[in-house]
Amino acid sequence: MDITFLLNGERVDIGNVAPTVTLLDWLRENRGLTGTKEGCNEGDCGACTVMVTDDAGSRALNGCILFLPQLNGKSVTTVEGLAAPDGRLHPVQRAMVDHHGSQCGFCTPGIVASLAVAHLNGEAGHDDVLAGNLCRCTGYAPIIRAAEAASADPVPAWLTPGADLPIAPRGDGTLPAAPETLADLSALYGAHPDATLVAGATDVGLWVTKQLRDLDKLIFLGRCTELQQIDDTGDTLRIGAGVTIDRVLTLMQTHAPSYAEMLRRYGSTQVRAAATIGGNIANGSPIGDNPPALIAMGATLHLHRDGQTRDLPIEAFFLDYGKQDRAPGEFVEAVTVPKGQTALRVYKLSKRFDQDISAVCGAFNVTVTDGVVQSARIAFGGMAGIPARASATEAALIGKPWSVEAAQAAAAHLAEDFTPMSDMRAGATYRLKAAQNMLVRYAHDLAGTSTDIRKVQA
Ligand SMILES: Cc1cc2nc3c(=O)[nH]c(=O)nc-3n(C[C@H](O)[C@H](O)[C@H](O)COP(=O)(O)OP(=O)(O)OC[C@H]3O[C@@H](n4cnc5c(N)ncnc54)[C@H](O)[C@@H]3O)c2cc1C
Ligand code: FES
Ligand code: FES
Repeated sequence: MDITFLLNGERVDIGNVAPTVTLLDWLRENRGLTGTKEGCNEGDCGACTVMVTDDAGSRALNGCILFLPQLNGKSVTTVEGLAAPDGRLHPVQRAMVDHHGSQCGFCTPGIVASLAVAHLNGEAGHDDVLAGNLCRCTGYAPIIRAAEAASADPVPAWLTPGADLPIAPRGDGTLPAAPETLADLSALYGAHPDATLVAGATDVGLWVTKQLRDLDKLIFLGRCTELQQIDDTGDTLRIGAGVTIDRVLTLMQTHAPSYAEMLRRYGSTQVRAAATIGGNIANGSPIGDNPPALIAMGATLHLHRDGQTRDLPIEAFFLDYGKQDRAPGEFVEAVTVPKGQTALRVYKLSKRFDQDISAVCGAFNVTVTDGVVQSARIAFGGMAGIPARASATEAALIGKPWSVEAAQAAAAHLAEDFTPMSDMRAGATYRLKAAQNMLVRYAHDLAGTSTDIRKVQA
């Protein structure tokens, strides 16, 4: 596989690319661009953040879990490429100096790269922008002051990362490959059902950097634009498997604000810009954050194999721990959710507020007419080996008058639905109690009582 991309404005052509070399390793070892740092090598710390630009705009991404083929046809700007050729600093670099935003400096290139992307995109939510950039010594107050100060300055004229994007070489049909159409993907995966599909690589990247796995047969999904579409059919939203979490978040801000608010705490800005909804479903993780929300919304999953699409309720996809209803050569094509779900609430419980995997993620969708529960869809992550519905609890609610007391009574049935496990994120008893409390929180929430977990209320 041959690839072409821009690196700090200069064209790079790599023939027969090694498909699992990360951008971070390549920058440091092949290009001597050591400004981009390695902290964790697993997407958590942001020291490796770079600006990646394509036709859709510029995003901050973690270079440590970004494979070189994912850059084909794009533009990469590292911290070395932010200042002007004559040495003038980018406004966020200048502001970081002026506001004392750096001490040891290890985090600083990543922070500057994240802030430069936010500055370019006019993004002012600096806390969210920096949730994936860990600084151990300076403290965030001076960094935020720098970000705020820089926001008054215009984007420097020398920073034009989207200009003259190169034409990406097309593959010859051999692996590793990056098919550009659904039909090509279907044929290729059908011929190589043992290949590993790579979408955002926020899971697969760690198989390489942490588990040191050799992945020799790879199919990259990032160039298949049909997988990246969002179709509003009027009553439903059909979300392609390749839609990134940041796009799902933006979509849900209009259609399901509570779901969007949960996604604001999914990974970090960099992780959300890479991770896809299809990857989050396909990996079958019991602690993935999208599946409980999608189950509670009554989503339909669309699987694709040999040119045919197969539909199933999304909860039916998760069979057992590590086992999904997916045949060899079959892949996730899209997921469809009904619109207008005003009663949906999604709660993510994690040890740390930002950038942390859920201990429990609960999603609730109860329809009440004339004070009586007509239907209930309640789903959890972190309570079993798969994301799953709380069927006994739902049954206990349906047909009953809806109230906080009814939710409290029904919550007892969660012990019939789930036997959670204890692990480093939470104990079994805590998980069950937390899930029960979420149902009660939901009843308060629907009644209009503020349930902001960061506010103490009497
Ligand atoms: C720092 C960090 C923080 C994270 N935080 C969270 C979090 O808060 N919540 C959460 O839920 N997850 C979190 N994750 C996990 C990860 O982001 C998700 O699981 C993500 O959605 C995976 O999507 P991806 O596109 O990166 O998948 P990839 O890593 O590319 O692939 C994941 C798996 O899905 C398969 N796959 C991908 N696309 C398809 C498809 N269309 N059809 C069939 N198979 C496919 C791949 O072969 C692979 O087995 C985090 C990860 C990191 C590194
Ligand atoms: S090195 Fe920590 S996120 Fe990449
Ligand atoms: S300045 Fe030392 S880690 Fe941020």
